[in-house]
Amino acid sequence: MHIDQTERRYIIFALLLVGAFGIAIAISSSAYSINVVRPESQIDPKLLTTPGATAYDGFAEPPENRLRELSPGRYEAYIIGYATKGWIWEPEELRVPAGSEVTFYVTSADVTHGFIIQNTNVNMMVLPGQVSKLTTTFDTPGTYNFICHEYCGILHHNMYGQLIVE
Ligand code: CUA
Repeated sequence: MHIDQTERRYIIFALLLVGAFGIAIAISSSAYSINVVRPESQIDPKLLTTPGATAYDGFAEPPENRLRELSPGRYEAYIIGYATKGWIWEPEELRVPAGSEVTFYVTSADVTHGFIIQNTNVNMMVLPGQVSKLTTTFDTPGTYNFICHEYCGILHHNMYGQLIVE
């Protein structure tokens, strides 16, 4: 098959470009902990807070008990986003000691939200019916705001909370 020389050069250039993008993705995922978020599991948004109704009983705890210590320095946090309760995260405040590893399970009771923790690699979509999950370690003491970054209604900009690393 005859391929024009100019066309051949463009084909080779395009293939090299695809390879370069692949290498860039590999480097960013390994060196900068940028991971593709996978939906952890499905959940019925109407039954989140009903004890025993879902596979995630952490969401059914009162907000002050949604941070659990699994073992020294290892925690899991169950956070629900609400537009229908006045654009809030529940719970709105979490406290962990420095050096803690925290696994976040986040879901929505109503509409699509976004969950980002400033100055960390935690950044996920929060969909009603899906549980989003990410684990990260907090070595540096301070206040980390977690905010909604997906427009979810008139008071979207008020939807934030704080993780305090002591
Ligand atoms: Cu929730 Cu924007």
